[in-house]
Amino acid sequence: MKNKFYITTPLYYVNSNPHIGHSYTNIAADALARFHRQKGDEVYFLTGTDEHGQKIAKAASDAGLEEKAFTDTMVSIFIELWKSLDVSYDDFIRTTDERHITAVKKVLTTLYQNNDIYLHTYEGWYCTPCETFWADMQVEGNVCPDCKREVERIREENYFFRLSKYQEWLIMYFRSHPNFIKPLPRYNEALSFLTNNKLTDLCISRPRSRLKWGIEIPFAPSHVTYVWFDALINYISAVGFGCDELKFKKYWPVDVHLIGKDILRQHAIYWPIMLKALGLEMPKMIFAHGWWMVGQDKMSKSRGNVVDPLKLVKEYGVDVYRYFLLREVPFGLDGNFSDEAITMRKNSDLANDLGNLVHRTATMVEKYFSGSVPEKGALKANALKADSDNLSNEVSKALEAVDFSQALDAIWSVINQANKFIEETKPWNLLKEGKTEDLDSFMLLLVEVIRNVSCVLVYFIPESAKNISSQFASRIIRKGIPLFPRLETK
Ligand code: ME8
Ligand code: MG
Repeated sequence: MKNKFYITTPLYYVNSNPHIGHSYTNIAADALARFHRQKGDEVYFLTGTDEHGQKIAKAASDAGLEEKAFTDTMVSIFIELWKSLDVSYDDFIRTTDERHITAVKKVLTTLYQNNDIYLHTYEGWYCTPCETFWADMQVEGNVCPDCKREVERIREENYFFRLSKYQEWLIMYFRSHPNFIKPLPRYNEALSFLTNNKLTDLCISRPRSRLKWGIEIPFAPSHVTYVWFDALINYISAVGFGCDELKFKKYWPVDVHLIGKDILRQHAIYWPIMLKALGLEMPKMIFAHGWWMVGQDKMSKSRGNVVDPLKLVKEYGVDVYRYFLLREVPFGLDGNFSDEAITMRKNSDLANDLGNLVHRTATMVEKYFSGSVPEKGALKANALKADSDNLSNEVSKALEAVDFSQALDAIWSVINQANKFIEETKPWNLLKEGKTEDLDSFMLLLVEVIRNVSCVLVYFIPESAKNISSQFASRIIRKGIPLFPRLETK
């Protein structure tokens, strides 16, 4: 039987256009999805959009549009971007989809019947941009402890989800599942939050008088569902929770929830407790990656320092962009974006190392063998051949551990060895000295190395890797156009 591999990204808010940060998560998820597909797994790669709540309602009204009309336009921008970035998702879920709304209502009804949701009058602070409640003791000087924007005082009747009831259980779950949250600093952060704070129950409704744009609470039509409670449920609604038991059984539990570390608490604490209360299995892994920064600040719409991925794709090419994001920073750490850094990566790793290897090899096949790869030739055992044969194993190991840098390091180590091998072998001398057998095996090995390299590069730079593969697929090889024309450094 085939293995399944279910991977998700966050559902992005559609109040503004996607930036580098959003594209980062989707490109990383795409690389993993492509790897698992090639491995033969039945992959379900889910992404989508988070469309309810005050923030979106406000953006719609600022744009002078009805909420649904506004989100429809924004969603098409996200979909276009994923197309331009070769993001091969299998399903795109919107929180405004009927299938999702049905699942959210079912979750609410079940939890209410089980007495995990109750009605309570709440008085405290509310941060609209974060859509978060804060208790008196958490707020200093009328500003949100998270985003530092002004909070407002509210008093209202709302529905609450019993997070507190499950705190001890979740602590135990963390302790017995040290790989639940990756990387380790995020696991530690979530666990220490859990052990150092008493969880307060989560307010999961908003009175309709204050917010109309949301999913109706089935047992209280005067209230709509809090956006986070709504959005998290997408991970089960997309795979058939409550409507397609077979599909749900097949894909749940999820293999990887890929997120940024900004939304660790919702995924590592709220979501597991929601699942537990529903009697569902826990995610196998939640991986929270780091942030793209501009100087000292996180890149974000609210800070006004975002860079448009489409602009970078136009300037550098989609594969350069994908490669840069996954190579520049070890996955899990924060990174700094700059045009200098991406130009460097393009010129040195892609144009110089990879581009040259491919170009020189094709040129030599043309020059020494009139374009057709020698039929036989004893391949001599050497370090390059060993590493090239083992490359797919190494890359698999790294990607099973969601370690893109290690995977790319292994690939570039082979590329660099191959370039060195050309320089050290000096094929032009072999030709002069009439060592044709040696020249044959030299050529064969290089062609084989390039085939192996392009097989694993396809997860990261699919378009270029497919070009290389098709150039080297048959015995007849012709020089192609340079893969990555060098850029002038600025
Ligand atoms: O939080 N660096 O949506 P969102 C790296 N709707 N990644 C970044 C980033 C940056 N500077 N900025 C954003 C939400 N991201 C909720 C999620 S899930 C059920 C609901 C990426 O539009 C990263 O994946 O604010 C982060 O977690 C996500 O975008 C937040 O997107
Ligand atoms: Mg955000």
